[in-house]
Amino acid sequence: MLTIENLHASVNGKKILKGVDLDVKAGEVHAIMGPNGSGKSTLSSVIAGNEVYEMTKGNILLNGEDINELDAEDRAHKGIFLSFQYPVEIPGVSVTNFIKTAINESRKAQGLDDMSASEMLKKIRQKAALLDIDTKFLSRSLNEGFSGGEKKRNEIFQMAMLEPKLSILDETDSGLDIDALKIVANGVNKLKNDQNAVVIITHYQRLLNYIAPDFVHVLHDGKIVKSGTKDLANELEAKGYDWIKQESN
Ligand SMILES: Nc1ncnc2c1ncn2[C@@H]1O[C@H](COP(=O)(O)OP(=O)(O)O)[C@@H](O)[C@H]1O
Ligand SMILES: [Mg+2]
Repeated sequence: MLTIENLHASVNGKKILKGVDLDVKAGEVHAIMGPNGSGKSTLSSVIAGNEVYEMTKGNILLNGEDINELDAEDRAHKGIFLSFQYPVEIPGVSVTNFIKTAINESRKAQGLDDMSASEMLKKIRQKAALLDIDTKFLSRSLNEGFSGGEKKRNEIFQMAMLEPKLSILDETDSGLDIDALKIVANGVNKLKNDQNAVVIITHYQRLLNYIAPDFVHVLHDGKIVKSGTKDLANELEAKGYDWIKQESN
């Protein structure tokens, strides 16, 4: 699904990623952990094609296709979904209308006609039911006055509707209460299947109490310094990141 080879990236001339290799197969959930400033958000932004970040070396392949030159919009249309750390408020645009537009834009890019209103409604109802989302929530203005949990609910709903091949969830550590964590975890668990893949970025092990990742990677100073299974996350929780830093020096 996603193959990253020797990825180097900079922002404003500062080198952040210094040779990241990662292989994510369909059906897998990967967690990327690491101390603040290690480059986790940079990695997710570079995969999604955010132009603020300059890829200086390496390759990113999606299902074997080199996507290095594609812009963020084209990558999204190819099935890459990145959660927003700082979601924008759009007064007057409901959760439902926003997702309708996003779906039809994606269809347009693939040369398809708009989804019919009845098909769209059916899909919205199905996904809302799957995720226990109240229909009242769907008519609210996008992100306006949303609590941390509601932001996550909206994000997971977008993910459910867009059915991306690869979802990257970059979880900020601040403001994520247990309810919000559970919404994310429940969404990931319900939406994962053998055709898609999820990369969860998190500073704390807490989220991994609710989602069992197949692989855990530790990013430190722009490199993946350790990979393992869920046990690695538990070890990190017990020993902290200093243990990794010492080992990698
Ligand atoms: N837009 C930016 N401009 C300048 N420096 C940045 C920018 N984004 C990230 N950085 C720097 O890159 C480093 C890695 O940041 P980031 O990828 O956000 O790490 P993490 O998500 O692991 O906390 C930090 O030193 C941060 O200050
Ligand atoms: Mg970050």
